[in-house]
Amino acid sequence: MLLHDAFRVTIAVMKLLMLGGTRFLGRALVDDALARGWEVTVLHRGLTGAPPSTAEVLFADRTDQRAMVDALGDRRWDLVVDTWSGSPRVVAENARILRGRVDRYAYVSSVSAYRWGLHVDETSPVVAASATSDDNTDYASAKRGAELAVLESFPEALLARAGLILGPHEDIGRLPWWLRRIATGGRVVAPGAPTRPLQYVDVRDVASFVLSGLAAKISGAYDVISASGHATTSGLLEACVDATGSDAELVWIDEGRLAAAGAQPWTQLPCWVPQEGEFAGFLEADTTKAAQAGLQCRPVEDTVRDTWEWMQRETLPTQRADRAVHGLPSEIERELLAAEE
Ligand SMILES: NC(=O)c1ccc[n+]([C@@H]2O[C@H](COP(=O)([O-])OP(=O)(O)OC[C@H]3O[C@@H](n4cnc5c(N)ncnc54)[C@H](OP(=O)(O)O)[C@@H]3O)[C@@H](O)[C@H]2O)c1
Repeated sequence: MLLHDAFRVTIAVMKLLMLGGTRFLGRALVDDALARGWEVTVLHRGLTGAPPSTAEVLFADRTDQRAMVDALGDRRWDLVVDTWSGSPRVVAENARILRGRVDRYAYVSSVSAYRWGLHVDETSPVVAASATSDDNTDYASAKRGAELAVLESFPEALLARAGLILGPHEDIGRLPWWLRRIATGGRVVAPGAPTRPLQYVDVRDVASFVLSGLAAKISGAYDVISASGHATTSGLLEACVDATGSDAELVWIDEGRLAAAGAQPWTQLPCWVPQEGEFAGFLEADTTKAAQAGLQCRPVEDTVRDTWEWMQRETLPTQRADRAVHGLPSEIERELLAAEE
């Protein structure tokens, strides 16, 4: 039986413990699990939002192991999903406490765990890291260290190495920046070649993959990201124009002129990197393994439209202190557009 067939016949009601679950990806995981009719317990500090009322909530600070033991008590769950991006030591200590209380563990890691410039697929070399590290200043080694920390207690864990995640409730400000800028209208800097292949994944598609994968008992590392070229830069930006109903005119500016103006890929031009130079190969990973295991990626138009609808409906999350501010500074935009008059 193919794995995606196994996904479809998985109908058992699972008990899920969600570590986190109230910001972006965790929220999508909770929503998806509840929609499957699973029993969901969310563990967080209670500082960032609240899950739907149909989920049970346990309050604890994960850095305090006594508080974790007290909150978990002698309860048992089938599955746990962990979205932690702090220091690996916390994950190692939490996973030791969860051994015996939970059957299967999924850790949401990142393709950043691969050594810079060497990511091709799941067999590519990863960064050096330690499961006992207290350091979370280096994102790549914190994510890889957390993977090692989970594996110490759950050798059969699912390691979901997500790529760029977009969709409703995004709290980094990448797609929200493009949508806001394009909604404002007028001439908008559009980076590089319109046909440049992008690689990203909708947050709801990550959630679905992780939950179905856990239920189907897959383990090991999976790059959870669309095939390169699932969308292009023009596909993404034109979807923003359509979703917002804007009169924006996309002004395509080549890589050389963007670099000369000091426009930073990825942060100032969210979701985009040049095809040449230090980012070469960055949006071109081979994602066959996850696709064969059931990852399905919705069209870019759906991701963009649903994100815009969420932005119209709700107050946006505050800027995360642990992430860069995204978007093109207006003085660089003015300079680039003036040169195109
Ligand atoms: N965005 C991307 O493009 C991207 C790409 C690749 C991988 N990833 C990975 O995807 C994951 C995204 O996670 P997310 O932030 O969206 O997850 P989330 O589960 O929605 O939010 C983080 C949760 O952690 C809880 N929390 C924070 N500190 C805590 C503590 N000390 N004790 C207990 N709970 C705590 C927060 O609640 P309280 O504050 O109330 O405690 C919140 O519920 C991260 O692992 C990231 O590395 C993201």
